[in-house]
Amino acid sequence: SRPDALPRDLVGRRVVVSAGGTREPLDPVRFLGNRSSGKQGYALARTAAARGADVTLVSAHTLPLPEPAGVDLVRVGTAEELRAAVHAAAADADIVVMAAAVADFRPAERAEYKIKKTGRDPDPVALVRNPDVLAELVEARSGDPERKAQVIVGFAAETGDSGADVLDHARDKLARKGCDLLVVNAVGEGKAFGTEDNSGWLLAADGAERPIALGSKAQMATEVWDAVANMLGSVRE
Ligand code: CTP
Ligand code: CA
Repeated sequence: SRPDALPRDLVGRRVVVSAGGTREPLDPVRFLGNRSSGKQGYALARTAAARGADVTLVSAHTLPLPEPAGVDLVRVGTAEELRAAVHAAAADADIVVMAAAVADFRPAERAEYKIKKTGRDPDPVALVRNPDVLAELVEARSGDPERKAQVIVGFAAETGDSGADVLDHARDKLARKGCDLLVVNAVGEGKAFGTEDNSGWLLAADGAERPIALGSKAQMATEVWDAVANMLGSVRE
């Protein structure tokens, strides 16, 4: 749809979107990373701005992407940096959308100098857990009366496995995280789940579930903002 055809239902709303993949350094030249392109998060930020929101885009590593117009762009590298930037912006936000691929683990040690090869076999890389930023956001909201109405959205790419299908995993994740909306992208073959178009779901904390046709990232962004706009102003217990 044309930008000027978009609803202006986010005017005056402060929105934080995280995007891209974090990079966790091993030494000054090496990192653990992931394949997140950042495209979905950038599309969410762009669409929110076009619908009138005041947007902060916290961007970890992405493919080369155009900067969305009219968006406050904050670049971060590691999960810890993303965490600090998201929490700072989320303190007075109406909506926080965690589209970033945040590394679950980071190297326990970050070498000050480039690690050199020696004659020996290398040591294994020890990892430690990163903070769960989405869970922290939910926790921070629950302790702050001013944030009662804040809407928090998570993303999850899930595959089914022998024990459970994509929706089972996603429902568990929604409950575990405590966010209001989980955008689920079924990755791999979604054999058991009907038509090929319905390869995603929007799961709401109140139990509402609807399939989303995974078309363009812009289309997905529109569906997410439509759902969020519907939740604004509703009272959470
Ligand atoms: N997330 C986060 N901080 C982390 C990991 C994930 O904020 N350290 C957020 C992501 O941005 C996303 C949501 O949590 O919005 C779900 O991420 P996902 O990796 O699917 O969930 P995990 O709880 O890490 O579970 P899994 O073991 O499936 O990776
Ligand atoms: Ca994860």
